[in-house]
Amino acid sequence: MSDLYNVLRPTELNEVIGQDAVVTSLRILHDSGRLPHLFLFTGNSGVGKTTLARIIGNQLLCVKPANLLEIDAASNSKVDDVRALMAQVKKRGLVKGQKKMVIIDECHRLSPSAWDALLKDTEQPPEHLYIALCTTDYAKVPKTIKTRATDYHLKELSTDDLIDLGEFANNHLNADLNEKTLIRLARKAEGSARNMLTLVSKASTASCKDELADLLEDGMAPKAEFIKPMRYLCTATNVSFKGAMALIVPLIQEGNTPESIRLASINYAAKMLRNSKTYSSDAKAGQLLTLIDCFSTAMVGVDGEALLYKAIADFAYSLE
Ligand SMILES: Nc1ncnc2c1ncn2[C@@H]1O[C@H](COP(=O)(O)OP(=O)(O)OP(=O)(O)O)[C@@H](O)[C@H]1O
Ligand SMILES: [Mg+2]
Repeated sequence: MSDLYNVLRPTELNEVIGQDAVVTSLRILHDSGRLPHLFLFTGNSGVGKTTLARIIGNQLLCVKPANLLEIDAASNSKVDDVRALMAQVKKRGLVKGQKKMVIIDECHRLSPSAWDALLKDTEQPPEHLYIALCTTDYAKVPKTIKTRATDYHLKELSTDDLIDLGEFANNHLNADLNEKTLIRLARKAEGSARNMLTLVSKASTASCKDELADLLEDGMAPKAEFIKPMRYLCTATNVSFKGAMALIVPLIQEGNTPESIRLASINYAAKMLRNSKTYSSDAKAGQLLTLIDCFSTAMVGVDGEALLYKAIADFAYSLE
């Protein structure tokens, strides 16, 4: 529990950063007494899904701690797990007006029969019961659930928001990370508040300048499996759509997000541009600038994957 990101987890809507549209919508629904009974929070890791689900339970619905249950579907994916959970929360056993809430994290890991069991209870949830489903993988949520749930997609946090969060954490820790360091950590955090807080925590305890430099440098280096695709996009002399897709699609299939691939690509290109040898040929620099141009729009949300493939096509065809 002592991880910095747990200590600094927002407990009220006004502490949540970078999710203004969702926060406003929740506020309006709550104030008008129309909060839905089934929520679906989607988005990348560490952007606030579990945090917002807990805020709904604690702050908006004032659910007593004993009546707020949270399960991780990664380790409770079976139909019996869901049945037992729902049996427990469907029983009212409450003083009038009191509520119960269930948060199911990583819900995409539920088995098909577990989804079926849940479906029955989401069709017409009892008046006292609220359910929040959280997932990084919207595509794996059955359509039948999606049509019943009120859907909230949480965005990756912007670099500016992450810098603000870093400053807040820096003050909390009484650390002395300077602005330049916070900016670099924010870029490395790739849109995730949890990553940012973990990085700030590590950086604040770095025992020397070299250790801090290593931490920052890692952030600029792409993951090992990204290197071949990045090198292809940035340096191949005959980049084709087919060739690029053959390298990028496996990254998606392994669970990398379109946005992380986009950021790795433009950071790799920027790193190469920083290297003066790149300017030995205008064609080389031109390829990198075209890549940065085609990959300049965020690839988040349900259409992130489509935006990535479109950018690859634009890039490949503009090099022809
Ligand atoms: N929007 C946000 N504003 C402020 N802090 C945030 C936000 N989102 C996440 N955090 C910080 O990151 C931590 C992890 O957030 P949370 O558990 O809500 O992520 P998640 O989206 O559920 O991720 P996962 O998919 O990995 O479960 C929180 O404890 C909090 O400190
Ligand atoms: Mg979560």
